Amino acid sequence: MGSSQQNDSSSNHEEEADILQAMHLASISSLPFTLKVVVDLGLLEIIAKAADTPPGTVSIADIVSKLPTNNPNAHSIVDRMLKLLATHSILTCNQITGQDGLTQRSYGLSSVGKYFLQNKDGVSFVPMLRILLEKYVVECWKFLKDVTLEGGFSCKKAFGKHLFELLADDDDMSECFNRLMSIDTTFTMNQVLKNYKGFEGVSQVVDVGGGVGTNLKLIVSKHPQIRGINFDLPQVIKDAIPCPGVEHIAGDMFMEIPKAEVIFFKWVLHDWGDDQCLKLLKVCYDALPKNGKNVSVEAIIPEVPETDIISKTILERDIVLFQFFQVLKRGPNKSSRH
Ligand SMILES: C[S@@+](CC[C@H](N)C(=O)[O-])C[C@H]1O[C@@H](n2cnc3c(N)ncnc32)[C@H](O)[C@@H]1O
Repeated sequence: MGSSQQNDSSSNHEEEADILQAMHLASISSLPFTLKVVVDLGLLEIIAKAADTPPGTVSIADIVSKLPTNNPNAHSIVDRMLKLLATHSILTCNQITGQDGLTQRSYGLSSVGKYFLQNKDGVSFVPMLRILLEKYVVECWKFLKDVTLEGGFSCKKAFGKHLFELLADDDDMSECFNRLMSIDTTFTMNQVLKNYKGFEGVSQVVDVGGGVGTNLKLIVSKHPQIRGINFDLPQVIKDAIPCPGVEHIAGDMFMEIPKAEVIFFKWVLHDWGDDQCLKLLKVCYDALPKNGKNVSVEAIIPEVPETDIISKTILERDIVLFQFFQVLKRGPNKSSRH
């Protein structure tokens, strides 16, 4: 009897936890939208500035006093948004009691929240957050159901083109996309270069689909003996960053790429299906000397999804990429191709 009561109570707890998790998932979209508004209002900068002086947090009244508003409700709206960010550990939150005896919340920037503020290199995850809430991405989501049932891919259904064709016609979005790639790349390549030793002793690297040249800038600054060629489409190369030791060349990688000892790709193969990748790798093969090598940095899609943060992040990005390129992904095991 006792044990059946215990079983009932633990299954009640499990059911309650499941219901709460489902409720949480159903309302999770509040988070990115709120975070974007908080960023757009400059609230993280206000909080970060205050965090430089003890106690490292700033009261909601002080935060709102820095906003250009007379709205009597601003205090309550801002407090609501910041509480949500605090529950996701983007901010810290304390209750403080003023000299008047009234309590109010005060907020500080957490160790995660600081990645939504520009660091000393001018990079943060804000461009990524923004672009995923931008018109092109939001519009594509509306077509995923049709794509699932009827085939095709969202970007083509929504705009009649794939992403790189869209960007060729939209300078603002192209610049935004290139900046986003450059920032994401800075975080990732700094980690890659800490661990990867394959650039030691190398004298030439061509970065194919290298964007504005951020990969090579980081590679060459760590390995100054390397002469780099950053290769991308003309609409991207026009915004490339001048960098000593790096030459920028525009072209179409499916036609011909500059010859070099190492051909480097980062997040390029994931944009294309098997046939296109094969075509690209043949072009690379022709551009490599006898002992040359191809180095590619890509996220590996897990065969069986785990619930850890790496798998979640990879799969969240994968579904967005799919909408732009309709690539049916390869996992680590070639036979698992869907
Ligand atoms: C996902 S981005 C990756 C950018 C860069 N490798 C990085 O890691 O930041 C893919 C890049 O491939 C470039 N690309 C697409 N089609 C191309 C083509 N036919 N020839 C050369 N580059 C191309 C895009 O312009 C874009 O910069």
